Amino acid sequence: MQITEIGFVKGFLRMCDDGWQQGWHERNGGNLSYRIKEEEVAQVRGFFRADAPWQPIGTSVPELGNEYFMVTGSGQFFRNVLSDPEDSTCILELDDLGENYRVLWGLKNGGRPTSELPSHLMNHEVKKRVSGGKHRVIYHAHTTNVIALTFVLPLTDEAFTRELWEMATECPVVFPDGIGVVPWMVPGGREIAVATSRLMEKYDVAVWAHHGMFASGEDFDLTFGLMHTVEKSAEILVKVLSMKGAQEAGAVKRQTITPDDFRALAKDFQVTLPERFLYEK
Ligand code: 13P
Ligand code: ZN
Repeated sequence: MQITEIGFVKGFLRMCDDGWQQGWHERNGGNLSYRIKEEEVAQVRGFFRADAPWQPIGTSVPELGNEYFMVTGSGQFFRNVLSDPEDSTCILELDDLGENYRVLWGLKNGGRPTSELPSHLMNHEVKKRVSGGKHRVIYHAHTTNVIALTFVLPLTDEAFTRELWEMATECPVVFPDGIGVVPWMVPGGREIAVATSRLMEKYDVAVWAHHGMFASGEDFDLTFGLMHTVEKSAEILVKVLSMKGAQEAGAVKRQTITPDDFRALAKDFQVTLPERFLYEK
């Protein structure tokens, strides 16, 4: 039996491709993680490599000590996940303190798990606790319409929840707890992970301003469905605002990524952004 024939692996790979087909994963955008059940670990153990080195997670998730996860790789394209899963995804194990991980399968050509691993794991830790162990999937996508709305709606949980609930009758049924909003922050680190996981105490969805969304759920269907529902509702709102004329509604770029934000990003991601583009408007 191939590892790709095992139920949770199939579900994981299909979800990556579903997201790609929705247009939420340009280049390496977005990432997915799944907290593997004990009986499922037994199904894949035979594929594990020996003597994988431990690496620091960059945060601490003690309530996830000794758990196993399937996650997408950093810099990997969702577009390629179905055709070469062993290159673009991996299975990892955490140590008993939840401070280090090691890659037991996948990333066969090298590389690391997603740069958003701290956010994924801190969200998993919160969700495992508040759902009594039921939530197993954390999904980050670059959902076009939700991102567009973060330029024009106030960046509050109340505004996003209420506006998106209004756009489709079933929305309050699908996400009755509402949606949290994280203001613009440098991605990929512990700080944004802490902010997001705080919101995950109350909500199953967190918006990252000018970036995308995080969703949490019990399984692949429910988590993908949640992301899809919120993004579709955002698409309807974008259409409604466009018909009305966003300018007239006083809602064009209420906030954006500032020159200082770009400088902070450049520092963390080790890129040079010419100052001549970072003028004050
Ligand atoms: P990775 O390629 O490291 O998963 O990063 C993609 C992304 O969306 C960062 O927020
Ligand atoms: Zn992202």
